[in-house]
Amino acid sequence: MLDDRGGLLAHGLFSQIELHRAYGGVVPELASRDHVRRLLPLVESVLNAAGARAPGEIQGVAYTAGPGLIGALLTGAALARSLAFAWGVPALGVHHLEGHLLAPLLEPEPPPFPHVALLVSGGHTLLIEVSAIGRYRVLGASRDDAAGEAFDKTAKLLGLPYPGGPHLAELAREGRPGRFKFPRPMLDRPGLEFSFSGLKTAVLHAVAAQELTPAVRADVARGVEDAIVDTLIAKSLRALEATGLAVLVVSGGVSANRTLRERLAAAVGARGARVYYPRIEFSTDNAAMIAVAGLARLKAGERDTLAIGARAQWPLESLPAVGP
Ligand code: KG4
Ligand code: ZN
Repeated sequence: MLDDRGGLLAHGLFSQIELHRAYGGVVPELASRDHVRRLLPLVESVLNAAGARAPGEIQGVAYTAGPGLIGALLTGAALARSLAFAWGVPALGVHHLEGHLLAPLLEPEPPPFPHVALLVSGGHTLLIEVSAIGRYRVLGASRDDAAGEAFDKTAKLLGLPYPGGPHLAELAREGRPGRFKFPRPMLDRPGLEFSFSGLKTAVLHAVAAQELTPAVRADVARGVEDAIVDTLIAKSLRALEATGLAVLVVSGGVSANRTLRERLAAAVGARGARVYYPRIEFSTDNAAMIAVAGLARLKAGERDTLAIGARAQWPLESLPAVGP
């Protein structure tokens, strides 16, 4: 629950990681069915935590309308629009990636506009020029796997549980740098595109070539993390240079990675620019970031119709600008 003046009053998260762990990834049908069970109790607990005495205190309902798994999205859309209808307030479907982009606005020192955003999640790796809320220009994207996907897939090869990113990062702390040197794709070419799919093949070859002792696993994890982080840093610096901007925002699940945060802050700082992150909790998927984007757009007068819908695909650049 987000208040225009009072800020974030309460927020909640129900993680489905345990539900999907046995399958090594998200099972769409299980996700939607569990949404049906969890959503309303979660909304109630957040309203209670915020001390909302009456529904009349709520002036709008924002929800994630895409892009993503349509079954899970529709479950949320149906609940959000039904609540809004019952409460007699507007509802608004928010773009998941816009939520990630605006998550740092929840921090005490929000990033100024314009800036360059590095959006790194399980499904996306994007460099975006953000001139204002709703004004996004994609500068570069991954041609294949996303950075989070590269973390998850290589973690799986090392036998780590789903989702592998945070586990691999943890293991990498014990690894020796330089013991495994994995490719840093597209660094030798100009441009702002990424490609991470070769990394899992390289890791597969490396682990097949020797016994996977705990020390070797840690060294491989370190090699993977360094390869991904190096690539993200190099391209982010290139994007700052190409746009002439001095502010970088890093968001999405992979921005929870501490090595990335520390090394990027140093590299960007050395160039006289500044980097902003959401707090770790709001790097990975959360509802607070959807409220931020929703509030900005509801204030600007955007509203959904009464029809319930969601979008599996939704280009970020097609969003309308907010304000003049
Ligand atoms: O944004 P997010 O929560 O969900 C999507 O929209 O995809 O991002 C999830 C991704 C997963 O691939 C996960 O492994 C990765 O973020 N991730 C991390 C870390 N925490 C989450 N990757 C590396 N290091 C971390 N600490
Ligand atoms: Zn996300």
